[in-house]
This record gives sequence, C-alpha cells and structure tokens, in this order.
Amino acid sequence: MMSAREQELRNQAERALQSAATDDYRQHFHIQPPVGLLNDPNGLIEFQGEYHVFYQWNPFETAHGAKFWAHMTSTDLVHWQWHEPALVPSEWYEKNGCYSGSAVVVGDELWLYYTGNVKGENNERFTYQCLAVSADGRTFHKEGPVLNLPDGYTPHFRDPKVWLEDETFYMVIGAQNEQETGRAPVFTSTDGRSFEQLGEVSESGTESLGAFGYMWECPDLFSLNDTDVLLFSPQGLEADGTKYQNVFQAGYVAGTWDQTTGRLHHGAFHELDEGFEFYAPQTFTDRYGRRLMFGWMGVPEQYEKSQPTVTNGWVHCLTLPRVLTYSGGRIYQQPAEELKKLRQDQQHFVTTGEGLEIHAGSAYEFEFEPKQDSRWSLMFGDGALLEWDPVKRRLICTRTNWETGEEEKRVAEISTMEKLQGFVDASSIELFINNGEKVMTARIFPNHRAFRYEGKAGNQLTLYPFAALDE
Ligand code: FRU
Repeated sequence: MMSAREQELRNQAERALQSAATDDYRQHFHIQPPVGLLNDPNGLIEFQGEYHVFYQWNPFETAHGAKFWAHMTSTDLVHWQWHEPALVPSEWYEKNGCYSGSAVVVGDELWLYYTGNVKGENNERFTYQCLAVSADGRTFHKEGPVLNLPDGYTPHFRDPKVWLEDETFYMVIGAQNEQETGRAPVFTSTDGRSFEQLGEVSESGTESLGAFGYMWECPDLFSLNDTDVLLFSPQGLEADGTKYQNVFQAGYVAGTWDQTTGRLHHGAFHELDEGFEFYAPQTFTDRYGRRLMFGWMGVPEQYEKSQPTVTNGWVHCLTLPRVLTYSGGRIYQQPAEELKKLRQDQQHFVTTGEGLEIHAGSAYEFEFEPKQDSRWSLMFGDGALLEWDPVKRRLICTRTNWETGEEEKRVAEISTMEKLQGFVDASSIELFINNGEKVMTARIFPNHRAFRYEGKAGNQLTLYPFAALDE
C-alpha cells in the first residue's frame, strides 16, 4: 500500500504537470520543460543514429537553482522523446547544479562534460569540470572532476565545450580572469580525463576583444566553411545604438584558429540574433556534415520571473534547430530542412491594398516576399508587430513588455529585404530574414492570434499551418 505521504507527493507532481500542460502558451513544436525552468541547451550530439538534446533544468521551481540535465532524443529533429534526466546534482562536486556542458562520442561511448557548481557556506563559488560516461546513451556514469580551477581565473569558470580531433581532446571554457574580463581558455588532453591549458582563444589586449564584458558564458569553437568561429555569450556589454539591447548577448567572432597556441585571430563581434530572447547557443555536426545550433529562447535576468507561463509552473523553451553556414564574413542561420515535415497544408496569398487578416491558429510557418520596396507590417495577434521601414532599411519588432506594460523594440538593419520566413508557435516567433542573413527571436504572449498584413498590393505570402505534435 502506498503511504499517505507518497500519495500526496505523487498528486502534487501530477497537479504541477497538468497545470503546465493545459497552459494556452504551451508550445507545440519547440522543446520545453514539462514543469519548472529550462535554460541552456547542453550536450548536443548525434550518437548511434539519434539526436540528443540535453538542457539545463530546474524541475522544482520556475527559478534558477541546482540544475539537472534533462534529456531528449529524436531521429528527425522534429519529434522528441523524453528520457530520465541524464545528470542529477547528487554529488559533493556538483551539489548546487550540474551546469552547462557538451558531449563527445569516444569510441562506442557517449561522454558528457559539464560544470559541477558548488556553493560554500558563505555563498562562495567553487567550480569543477566533470565527466560522465554512457554506453547506451540513456544512463550516465559519473567519473567526477577532470579539471580544477587553474590560476588566473575567478570561479566564474564553466560550460566546457569538448571535441576530439586527431586523438586530442580540446576543451574551451567560459571564464572570467582575475582582472574580471571575460575569457575563453583552451585545454587539451590525450585521454579526456586530465587536461592542460594551451592558451586563450582571444587574449587580453592582443586582439580586438581586449576587454569585452566581465564574463563569457557557453563558448563553442568550430570551423564552418573553412573559417574558424568562436561562439560565446558575453555578459556586461553596454547597449550601443541598435546593438546589445538585451540584458546579455550571444554572438561570435570569426577568423583563423591556431591549434598550437589556442589563439583565434579574428574580426569583430556579431550578435547571432536581433530579437528579444536568445542566449547560450551551442552547436554540433551531424551525419550530413551540417553544423546545427540550438539556443535558449530566454536571457538570464531578463523578465524571467514575470513571464506569463510562470503562474502555470513552467518557463522558457529552446529555439528550433538552425543550420549554420558561413559566407561573406557572416554566419547564416536557416531552420533545419526537417521542419518542413510540420507543414500540413499550404495557403498562398497575393496582398491587396486592403490588408489581410488570416486565422492561422497557434502553430504555423509563413514565407513573405515583398515584391516592392515599400512599407509593410505583419502582426502576430496582439503579441508582436513587425514593420519594414524602407527609408531607414530596418525591420522593427515591437511588443508590449509583460512586466512593465510598455512597448519595447528590437531592430535588424538590412540593406535589401528579399524574403522573410517565420515560425510562429503558441508563445514565440522566430524570423529568418533573407535566408538567414539575420534572425529575430521573441517570446510573445498574445490574447488573440489573428495574423495581419498591412501594406501595398502585390506582395506574396504563403502560409503553412502546422499539425499538432503530441508531447
Ligand atoms: C548560462 C549559464 C551557464 C551555466 C548555466 C547554469 O545561461 O549561466 O553559464 O552553466 O547557465 O544553469
């Protein structure tokens, strides 16, 4: 017989799941937590024919805390299956959270590298880079710390991204040096269990990013179409014109990486997304050689506590999988081809001067091609307004902030507006401009969902209502 206590706890868990599941803002085709808080994507990899996505998860509340690694798999990047959490913060070296990290396939095994976050009695921080190994991609055996905090850095030292190349393990870390500037140190190892420092990807004073924020989180270093790219999430950048409008940024520098020193000789920093919610992206390559990226559709400390879903016991989601390419000095992002599977139907419209109002439901994709260079706007219910300003050459996304009740804007500067592809889910939009030249991502919380066009006649709009996906 089940004890009264057990029954009560089970009922409580069931109520929490129900409350989240029946939320009108529950997403239809994005990865989201069953309850609690989701943040960074972790451990992205393809292993034994399956895509694995782990994410930072606090199952107990819609706040940051001692994170688990939630675990999902998919064979098509569209349908995701939930598994038991891969990492649970049970050991002394991770007691305040199994923080972000990455995955590597080593022989027949799947290795996870992550940060063991520990808080001391006086709230002082300790950090351990840890390893957990799996043979079946389901259960993970913890081996404990493989790297302690080296000299020269504060304990803000985390988020190992590890890869294996010519039998050498490389690890890049998000760090803050003792001068309190963000850094990305690199380490190498021959066995993946003991690491030595090689250098820093971008060294203080020697590159264009001398002091660029006080902390860099979630670095990722990889080559893309013969260029080497460091993706990272710097903290502490000041807003600058239309740039750096969010509390924290996510972006990249590109150039040539010197494997012997760990240094990247790179150009300027570019943000990856011009919208409101985007942070801590990570990438991996799959069997087709594609470089795929997922990001967190959220930003630390940016109106997190008041997000409308919090009252139903869950908050945040991941972005869609995006394929990265590099050309003309910029990263392009395109939604993974597989997402076309979601298209149920196709409706084509040519705009008239009267405007257009479509009741497209809460999950759809659209393609919009302005045939002339004049002002137009799209409205996603009362969730967000998107306007093209042909004079200033800007795409402007406006929404009413759910906490302050005030209008807020994000701006993408674009010289020629050729094509806009958008994915609208129950509480988000992701807009891919000119085949991924720029992207704007936002959480939206509309009270009604009518999709409206205003502008001149003769523009082309195609709408693809999506099928409902079971969670
Ligand atoms: C980024 C981050 C990481 C850390 C994790 C904790 O959002 O702060 O640096 O590992 O989240 O959940």
